[in-house]
Amino acid sequence: MDGTIVIQNLTKSFQGFKAVDSLTLTVKRRSFLGFLGPNGAGKTTTIKILTNLLSASEGQAFLNDVDVTKYPKKALAGVGAVVETPEFYPFLTPNETLEYLGTLRGMPKREIGRRGKEVLGTVKLEEWADTRIGKFSKGMKQRLAIAQALLHEPHVLILDEPTSGLDPRGMVEVRNILKDLKKGDYTIFMSSHLLNEVQEICDSVALIDHGKLLAHDAVSSLVSSSTAKAIEVRVLQPLDGHTIERISGFEGVESAAPLSETLLSISFKGDETDQARLLADIQALGLKVVSFKESGIPLESLYMSLITDSR
Ligand SMILES: Nc1ncnc2c1ncn2[C@@H]1O[C@H](COP(=O)(O)OP(=O)(O)OP(=O)(O)O)[C@@H](O)[C@H]1O
Ligand SMILES: [Mg+2]
Repeated sequence: MDGTIVIQNLTKSFQGFKAVDSLTLTVKRRSFLGFLGPNGAGKTTTIKILTNLLSASEGQAFLNDVDVTKYPKKALAGVGAVVETPEFYPFLTPNETLEYLGTLRGMPKREIGRRGKEVLGTVKLEEWADTRIGKFSKGMKQRLAIAQALLHEPHVLILDEPTSGLDPRGMVEVRNILKDLKKGDYTIFMSSHLLNEVQEICDSVALIDHGKLLAHDAVSSLVSSSTAKAIEVRVLQPLDGHTIERISGFEGVESAAPLSETLLSISFKGDETDQARLLADIQALGLKVVSFKESGIPLESLYMSLITDSR
């Protein structure tokens, strides 16, 4: 279907070493996939094959129904990509850069002007449209990279670690742009190292290691009741052993360990209703709860267990 990404049995060998190993993965139209995996997992290699920067050893990848391994030009016509830190000519302005890139893509001049304005608005660089890129921060360059990817109105976007190397503010700015894009008609494939980022902006997650797919599911199912999460509870008065023992026995509680006299870390399995009940149960013990919050990233425990198993 138009706007989908279908990867079938994709393999890339470098002198016998399989960087991508029989990868099969489908991204539904208008969904946002986070492609996670440790260093060397094969994320960039997969993305380079999807964007025809590398050839596949085996398998296919369909972008908008066209196999990029066979018909790269046609397959990539409706695709925008940001792969690796983009290098722009420092002496050009964003307007000049987009004009140059649009011309390379065969877009009519008027269309480039119209879209250029739109995409610079999307990435919040309109005020910088005529400033030389040499003056730009890394975050601004990354936003310009997203703008150029959107120029020819693609419906599929492929991004390799779009927030990597940015400072916290730069990261937030890029994430906000990606969140805005979710409202439009885009299918997005984004690699990342950052579990919190994927959890915050993606609909589904594919986790790979050693080139192999370990898990692929909706973010909401992956972080659901099946995985234990850490909850930190801070109370007003010091906790005693008896109280901690009682909390350890509450439904869904796997363990409860004091981090200080008034801070308890609870490993807990359950959905939001169960979690609300846990808080009520703790308060029913007569404890004055100052704060009750999930600590750490729910995806983290799943990630750690799957990656450890595959190593
Ligand atoms: N041109 C190449 N020749 C030989 N091996 C390569 C080549 N490109 C990548 N590899 C190897 O393939 C594996 C996967 O690399 P890849 O860059 O796809 O990982 P990644 O998941 O993007 O990692 P990172 O998170 O560090 O960006 C690594 O072991 C890497 O060393
Ligand atoms: Mg990479």
